[in-house]
Amino acid sequence: MADNNKIPNVRARFQIYRNKNEIKMVDTKNSLPTEDDDRLYQELKAFDDSKAGVKGLVDAGITKLPRIFIRPQDHTAGEPNTTQFTTPIPVVDLRNVDFRRDEAVSCVRKAAQEVGFFQVVNHCVAKEVLEEMLEGARAFHELPREVKEEYYSREVKRKVKYNSNFDLYESRSANWRDTLFCVMGPQPLDPQELPLVCRDITMEYSRLVHKLGIFLLELLSEALGLKPDHLLNLDCAKGHCLLSHYYPACPEPELTMGTTKHSDPDFLTILLQDHVGGLQIFHQNQWIDVPPVPGALVVNIGDLLQLMSNDKFKSVEHRVLANHIGPRVSVACFLTPHLYPSTRMYGPVKELLSEQNPPVYRETTVQDFIAYYNSKGLDGNSALTHFKLLR
Ligand code: OGA
Ligand code: NI
Repeated sequence: MADNNKIPNVRARFQIYRNKNEIKMVDTKNSLPTEDDDRLYQELKAFDDSKAGVKGLVDAGITKLPRIFIRPQDHTAGEPNTTQFTTPIPVVDLRNVDFRRDEAVSCVRKAAQEVGFFQVVNHCVAKEVLEEMLEGARAFHELPREVKEEYYSREVKRKVKYNSNFDLYESRSANWRDTLFCVMGPQPLDPQELPLVCRDITMEYSRLVHKLGIFLLELLSEALGLKPDHLLNLDCAKGHCLLSHYYPACPEPELTMGTTKHSDPDFLTILLQDHVGGLQIFHQNQWIDVPPVPGALVVNIGDLLQLMSNDKFKSVEHRVLANHIGPRVSVACFLTPHLYPSTRMYGPVKELLSEQNPPVYRETTVQDFIAYYNSKGLDGNSALTHFKLLR
């Protein structure tokens, strides 16, 4: 049996409970310890120890969801229905942007303020690169189990790792999703660390998507009324990670989630999704689909940029539905220094503040922000609340 200490986050939710000769794991999310906690913990651990992820369960032919994936009733009750209408997610066209920069800046401003999400088309990442990246991500998750399991890890410091549910031991229920994490910068990743099936395309995609991220941060700086390099000079593009998600077909999708509702703990996210769909954002009290658009990349404002913009830009909650159809593959690029956070303090940008616009948030380091976000797990509440100044 693996040593619990190797799983850094276990104690965040489950605590060792000693009573006479009894030693059990108790769930700190229940107000009172229940007899069942220890069994639940053992089920999570068995799933984790299998190193086969959700894909492994599907390959084993399960037809009923193991209970660790079943989301609690209180999470389903009272949820507004998905909208029947598709309110369009703004589309920002970057074709010939050098000649129509002002138009692009105002499009980005409106989207960042009103929706928090937009799709970009005619950007610098070629269609073939997008397709090959999705194919590479899928190929990794479909590798034989023995090959894939060498990458299975929950070690915080590991630059390339795969696991199922980064918050397996923190969240109330597990998601129907496996993820390959690759920390691509600011220190260049040695390509040899990447799995061979997706090595070359990951390096290529990473370079191009980072370039796009830099460009979008310039537009976003201008959209805030700052100089184009303002956010870059604050190191907002210094560091990026790629998260290749794999959402297998699910036998009972209504009982679980592909990804629980959350907002992203970074500056900016650029997401490549395949044709399956299932991503939704919470907008004006309803869930709205983010439809797959061939060749487009989905961009969303992260929590740290909402904080820096003093709430001018919105880091919007989103989720991914589980689906009978699958697998669905997506690759998220998080602009964040993640493994290499500096001591730099991030707070509302001074130039944006005035008597009429006093700071809404206190300053924090990226490290403290992410530590708080991870300790909470995906529980449907924004981590930003914790950093709000009390009035
Ligand atoms: C994420 C995310 C959405 C998707 O990685 O934070 O929201 O479609 N992904 O996989
Ligand atoms: Ni997200």
